[in-house]
Amino acid sequence: MHFLVSALVSFIVLAGSAFAKSSAGDSVLVVLDPSLKKEDYSKFFGGLEDRGYHLTFRSPKDVHPPIAEYDVPKFSHVILFTPETKTYASDITPQSLVGLLSENTNLLITLSTKQTPLSSLSTEFSLIPPPPGTPLISHHPARSEPATVIPVHVPESPLLSADIPPVWFSGVPHALGSSPYLVPVLRAPAESFASDSVDDSGADALFDASQKAGEGLWAGSQLGLVTGFQTLKNSRVVFAGGVELFSDEYANKVLPDGSASGNEKFVKDIVAWAFQETLVLRIDNTTHHRVDELVAPEMYTINDQIVYTTHISAYDPESTSWKPYSGITDMQLEFTMLDPHIRTTLPPVTGQAGKYQIQFRAPDRHGVFKFVVDWRRKGFSFLQTITTVPVVPPRHDQYPRFLSAAWPYYTGAISTSIGFFLFAALWLAGDVKDKKKVVKTE
Ligand SMILES: *[C@@H]1O[C@H](CO)[C@@H](O)[C@H](O)[C@H]1NC(C)=O
Repeated sequence: MHFLVSALVSFIVLAGSAFAKSSAGDSVLVVLDPSLKKEDYSKFFGGLEDRGYHLTFRSPKDVHPPIAEYDVPKFSHVILFTPETKTYASDITPQSLVGLLSENTNLLITLSTKQTPLSSLSTEFSLIPPPPGTPLISHHPARSEPATVIPVHVPESPLLSADIPPVWFSGVPHALGSSPYLVPVLRAPAESFASDSVDDSGADALFDASQKAGEGLWAGSQLGLVTGFQTLKNSRVVFAGGVELFSDEYANKVLPDGSASGNEKFVKDIVAWAFQETLVLRIDNTTHHRVDELVAPEMYTINDQIVYTTHISAYDPESTSWKPYSGITDMQLEFTMLDPHIRTTLPPVTGQAGKYQIQFRAPDRHGVFKFVVDWRRKGFSFLQTITTVPVVPPRHDQYPRFLSAAWPYYTGAISTSIGFFLFAALWLAGDVKDKKKVVKTE
């Protein structure tokens, strides 16, 4: 009986994990502000559930369920639909959210024009929010919606499917700081600006907005609306400037030209990225050995020909498994001792999926070297591997026995030996003859 129960439990667990689309897990905590209705976001939440996620809802001030217990996150992903919430239960603080990211939990955060703990958190991720109370405004194109409800062109991005129609957006933009880990997804339209007055539609309003931060910071297409951030631990966080982006209302709203909006597809793609379904890579293994050998030696000798190989897989959300991935063409291998002594491309091997290989000569320098692969591209998981190997000078019996370059020395030694032999022979023989002569003359 006990065996049957445990078999049943493991079957259920296996069946459950087979549905999980994400490489990081399928439990999602949705922190929903009481002012927002779950039903208004049914397409978004329903889409997540259809893809195998288990959603748990709570309000910001609830204490149960906690986002982490004893510093161990309880959920694989957290959605914060609390753009205007100023106070949370004690377990949700900027520090605890950053703590989740370092434990490989992913976050989806929505912002608003209000100053909240989340807008302060966004500054820690190199986003620069505009002054409170300044939504994004655009008077183009001409439409019946208010100036704060804006259709935004979706740019091409490795995160997103091709050809997504413009999306409806309303909310707050942000400027992007200099962090290299930012992944801009959606930019503000060039003719939009952040301003505290919606009614004012003259050129003066635009000019004021552009002057407010001194350098035209709050206007134009350098502002971000949806921006991702990938941490060094490969966990991901997405900041969206407005929660309405995810709503059924915007998904169903037709664009000014009468065609359907891209909201539904767009939010699906950004969540797929944030929850580590797409653009997730990993290094399966790395090997290195001398050319014509199969196993790694304990140490290399200077000038050895070395073969370095790595296998890389990408997560496939459709089959929820890892598949060999040969799509990286710009990876580099470094052979470093303090500085890279060798930096070379590490190309994919044609015909062998997921395999990357390079052969190179070890430098004429002994010491402790590292094979380093450090591949970081916007949107993709970071790939990093370091293997330490010693490189030694040849042992006394590894030098060649005979060097043609040493012929002058060989000739010198041989000619000295022959000379000595001749001299000794002549000396000995000559001496005897001399004595005989002396004897004869006496
Ligand atoms: C490395 O990983 C690849 C792909 O997963 C696998 O085919 C290969 O056998 C592995 N090699 C070693 C040495 O483990």
